[in-house]
Amino acid sequence: MADASLVTREWAERWQRSWDHLEASLVSDRELRIQALIDLVDATGSSTPTVLDLACGPGTVTRRLLDRLPAARSIAVDVDPVLLTIASATFAGDDRVVVVPADLRDPTWVELLPDQRIDAVLTSTALHWLPEETVRRLYCDLSQILRPGGVLAHAELMPLVEMPRLATGLTRLARLRRRDPHVARAVTWDDEWEEAAADPMLRDAAIQRRAVFSTNYPTEEFSPPADWHIAALRDAGFTEVGVVWRSGAGAIVAALR
Ligand SMILES: C[S@@+](CC[C@H](N)C(=O)[O-])C[C@H]1O[C@@H](n2cnc3c(N)ncnc32)[C@H](O)[C@@H]1O
Repeated sequence: MADASLVTREWAERWQRSWDHLEASLVSDRELRIQALIDLVDATGSSTPTVLDLACGPGTVTRRLLDRLPAARSIAVDVDPVLLTIASATFAGDDRVVVVPADLRDPTWVELLPDQRIDAVLTSTALHWLPEETVRRLYCDLSQILRPGGVLAHAELMPLVEMPRLATGLTRLARLRRRDPHVARAVTWDDEWEEAAADPMLRDAAIQRRAVFSTNYPTEEFSPPADWHIAALRDAGFTEVGVVWRSGAGAIVAALR
């Protein structure tokens, strides 16, 4: 008879692959982007950092973090019951990871975090789901919980508004790289959620998801240029704020606490 925990891990691994293929078709140079995020943790010099993986999805950034820095710890936060189910199965039995269900729209979300020093905050392809005022408040929250000298790194769509013609060309090239069949697969965002709802192990979570998100898509998308993030991070008390990576319209803004 199959070991139940093994089946769950294999099941989670299948969903991780599916998510990675989907996201690679939506986000240009996604693996390089995540590698650049983790570089920022590595660059701070600690081999045992505690990292907050904000809006973690199924745990994408945490998985790569632990591959690179096996002694790191992660607090992985998200609100989506489907993705939280996959994350929990992925990290079951791994005491380096705590998966925390929390809605970043709720100003009290910080109270749900374990009482641990946080050395770095990483977030990828997620905060565009939140309105402007929420992102601004979130930066203040993160400035409070991050240790002095810790790093925050935010990877998102941050359009190059100051050079529109060059931006068009760079975005076109970055999009072409997404079509590489070795990295991406031809599924849509909607297909993925339909497949999740059809999986008996995700059926209940898919129903709960409807109470969290009324549609498969963000109800409002906030994707300002990098300068907006830089100013908001400075206002929240961060120092050494700037763009550290870019691919087409995607960029990483990093900030030291
Ligand atoms: C495109 S996914 C990115 C997930 C992961 N960071 C990655 O790169 O694969 C966006 C994530 O933001 C999360 N998210 C959106 N709104 C949220 C909220 N209000 N609170 C917590 N997480 C949220 C979604 O549930 C989803 O997991």
